[in-house]
Amino acid sequence: MGIAKGQKCPPDCSCGRHRPHAQRLAEAKEARARKAAKNAPETEKDRKAKRILEKVDGKRPDSFAPGKPRGVVHRYQPHGTCVELFRSRDNEVLFAGPAGTGKSRACLEKLHMMALLNPGMRGLICRKTQTSLGSTALVTFKEHAAKEHLEAGEMKWYGGSPQEAAAYKYKNGSVIVVGGMDKAMKIMSSEYDVVYVQEATELTETDWEAITTRLRNGKVSFQQLMADANPDVPTHWLKVRCDTGKTKMIESRHEDNPVLFEPKTGKITKAGASYMGKLDALSGVRYMRLRKGVWCAAEGLVYEEWDPAVNRYKKILRPPISWTRYITVDFGYTNPMVVQFWAEDEDGRLYLYKELYQTKTTVEDMAPKIVEAMNLKHEPRPRMIICDHDAEGRATLEKHLGMSTRAAKKSVEDGIQAVKSRLRPSEVDGRPRLYLCEDALIHRDNELYEAKKPTCTLEEIVGYIWDRGTAKAQMDGKPPKEQPVKEHDHGMDALRYMIAERDLRSRPRIRSIAY
Ligand SMILES: Nc1ncnc2c1ncn2[C@@H]1O[C@H](COP(=O)(O)OP(=O)(O)OP(=O)(O)O)[C@@H](O)[C@H]1O
Ligand SMILES: [Mg+2]
Repeated sequence: MGIAKGQKCPPDCSCGRHRPHAQRLAEAKEARARKAAKNAPETEKDRKAKRILEKVDGKRPDSFAPGKPRGVVHRYQPHGTCVELFRSRDNEVLFAGPAGTGKSRACLEKLHMMALLNPGMRGLICRKTQTSLGSTALVTFKEHAAKEHLEAGEMKWYGGSPQEAAAYKYKNGSVIVVGGMDKAMKIMSSEYDVVYVQEATELTETDWEAITTRLRNGKVSFQQLMADANPDVPTHWLKVRCDTGKTKMIESRHEDNPVLFEPKTGKITKAGASYMGKLDALSGVRYMRLRKGVWCAAEGLVYEEWDPAVNRYKKILRPPISWTRYITVDFGYTNPMVVQFWAEDEDGRLYLYKELYQTKTTVEDMAPKIVEAMNLKHEPRPRMIICDHDAEGRATLEKHLGMSTRAAKKSVEDGIQAVKSRLRPSEVDGRPRLYLCEDALIHRDNELYEAKKPTCTLEEIVGYIWDRGTAKAQMDGKPPKEQPVKEHDHGMDALRYMIAERDLRSRPRIRSIAY
């Protein structure tokens, strides 16, 4: 019912014509603003966010949608060749380069971003052995790439079971499985959209090809095997794969890591100067690979017979009781003290199955670790503990272990020849008589790792070279010395003591006694 002219509305009227002028103005302004916001053109900021997200898969999770409040905030800026890695949609991509350029971080960041952007995605982080993964990639993932999302409960760590591999499970249904190729059954029964292999040069080509068959989950518009590695020998299967175009190689550089070089100015940072100083102090093949990023072989390798495909053995947790145990020791304090645990099978083959390799540790401190590793409750006593000739070291060790030790046969030349002959596969059964087991190292010495020095015997053997004398001596045409370079050779010495003990000592002759 209308109101006659001149008549006033009652105080509770809702007809709208009699609201105060100021209130009507405010409402109109609000409506105009709402309309404008709806038709507003995209700002540069909105467009940038869209571009970044669409680069990965063309999808956009709600929390990143322009205009909506952001959820968890994680900051990572890829630089230089890392951007190339982020853009790559190749089936196989290797991010290769010298040490510390930010390769692993970039791979893990990409994997995490893809899991967030593609609900239901299945990813895999893997390395040759599961234990090595725990101390490397997973630390970077937990403490950098996924830190904020873990803290906010957007994803959770699932520790796995005897049958099932461990994994990060995201709220959006994505999963990133974690495992080693040494436990292939657990990880290879699933399908994935993207797999990240850390230190891919450790894998065999068969491992690599087995992984490619698992890439068919189809939750992302491309499926990818992404890997990182430091350079190895130029004939390495992975390098050959890149050279023949099967795998795309992106070469990573130190300048791409903002921790080492200021991205804007290109100037080296304080941390960069200290890190690059350590790399500059390396020598030989380690310098070329880890500082310069060159795929090169050590020239004048002592053990040219060493072939990882032949002499590298799978991890042996506990060798059979019937196998004889030996321990060899090379003492050191500034240089690493190396303790090797050997088992000899019924055919006389030797397996290095456990190893302690540590600097700045006294013999007293090392003794309990040796006792623990001997595991005498379940394993037989070693037949012999063979040590280098440090009298004080031997006396201390004997006191703490309650066992006697034996002085090693230290001659270098014939020792090396004996090792070489054991490394060669036998003509009878095609198997060598000397194996170094994967993952024999019990605990990695972080100081050595940070300094990029070998951390175990397996890492020493590939850089153990003959001493060619100084550059001047070579120019003068002096003949090369008959000795290896005395650097990073402590595992090499302990290994030689073992072989010399078995192959170079004259065995007591057994005379038959006539009754
Ligand atoms: N864009 C970045 N922003 C911040 N920190 C970074 C970035 N890139 C790398 N880092 C840091 O630099 C350090 C070295 O990176 P990373 O471990 O990924 O190097 P790498 O090339 O894999 O080394 P290696 O060759 O020894 O395996 C890490 O602490 C990492 O978090
Ligand atoms: Mg790395």
